Amino acid sequence: MKNIVVVGTQWGDEGKGKVVDLLAPAFDIVARYQGGHNAGHTVIVGDRKFILRLIPSGILRDTGTCVLGNGVVVDAQAFLDEVDGLEALGIEVQGRLLVSNRAHLILPHYRSVERVSEERRGDDRVGTTMRGIGPAYEQKTGRRGIRVGDALNPERLRATLKSSRDEAATWLEGSEPELSDAALDAFLEAAVKLAPFVVDTGRFLNDAVDDGKRVLLEGAQGTMLDVDHGSYPFVTSSSSTAGGACTGTGLPPTRVSGALGIAKAYTTRVGAGPFPTELLDDRGRHLQDRGQEFGSVTGRPRRTGWFDVPVARYSARINGLTSLALTKLDVLDELDSVSVCVEYRTADGPCDSIPSSIKDYERVEPILEHMDGWRTSTRGISKLEDLPAAARAYVDALSSLVGVEIGLISTGPERDETIVVPGGRVAAWAEN
Ligand code: IMP
Repeated sequence: MKNIVVVGTQWGDEGKGKVVDLLAPAFDIVARYQGGHNAGHTVIVGDRKFILRLIPSGILRDTGTCVLGNGVVVDAQAFLDEVDGLEALGIEVQGRLLVSNRAHLILPHYRSVERVSEERRGDDRVGTTMRGIGPAYEQKTGRRGIRVGDALNPERLRATLKSSRDEAATWLEGSEPELSDAALDAFLEAAVKLAPFVVDTGRFLNDAVDDGKRVLLEGAQGTMLDVDHGSYPFVTSSSSTAGGACTGTGLPPTRVSGALGIAKAYTTRVGAGPFPTELLDDRGRHLQDRGQEFGSVTGRPRRTGWFDVPVARYSARINGLTSLALTKLDVLDELDSVSVCVEYRTADGPCDSIPSSIKDYERVEPILEHMDGWRTSTRGISKLEDLPAAARAYVDALSSLVGVEIGLISTGPERDETIVVPGGRVAAWAEN
């Protein structure tokens, strides 16, 4: 059994899509376990660029099944648009894509609820993606949500949807376009079209594993955006860490044997909240430009900073990482020196863990160590021995500081701009 979880180790956007795309041929099923169309996975194949928000990037390979697990929240229209987009590019989707009957639906008025909720927070706003994700999870845990399986019964769905809309209208204290009858009808039309994709995916996944099939569990966002373990309250509303893979799919922990963490060679974050290694100077702008650090869902510029070892170590612990994939190494190519945060400085002295209180976390300062830059291109390098010595030293230092092997290094956005470290875990997982 070699079922693995792929998880973001920072604040999302680490490049999970590319790594999942690379590993997908060795797996029979790729299953997303949380989040919704707030995620954005960019995969580049030849001269074609795909931005997938909801559907796992495994769909871009010719074979294999993709699953949206029960932990995902589904915007029916966004899902159908993505399916149409893939089909227009000649990618076979029908029969290869399943949605859990226990996943929750994002209702049209959730976007208005989210906008007003963010406005009311004032300076404490989270900077969410405005996709209705937070309200969908709030309704789910408040036991007022509507599951995808309910879309199979349009009459029941219409009745529940109306009462949810009326409740939202009171809370919103006014009329909103997303509360109109037309919006409700459009939603019902889209939701009904989900029917051919809907199954009991927990049953499907466990039966597949019984039959010897291999499953890759794909997380969205990252460890520091996890609702329990992240920089709360500046987090998303689901369990993006490895534990969420089990609750979000129905595949038990005893059926998962490894966790691959994805980490950028530096750090980025979109939205508000603490970011100890943030660079607010030219170096930060350089990383933003070279790394094309603009959100693939919202287009917002991403904040940038140095690699944060306390975050990576915390992530290794929470997710039980067995290997790390280091992405975007080439973005650092032009720097004279590269810094790494090895610990935090606090009023009580050095600290190597993540404070649970956001007020404490906002006050930490990074203790940086500096290393020589390599000032030569690593773009497209696909063999470990071809990396310049200083780049190799940087990668080795990160691995020993975090205490996890680095099994893959990405040196560019294309599939073949990748080093799979010989003898490492990723090389083993990638074997058919
Ligand atoms: P929400 O997920 O839209 O509720 O947004 C909550 C926080 O998570 C905000 O700071 C978003 O910017 C952040 N976020 C959500 N999805 C992503 C992602 O895919 N990458 C990076 N940040 C994300």
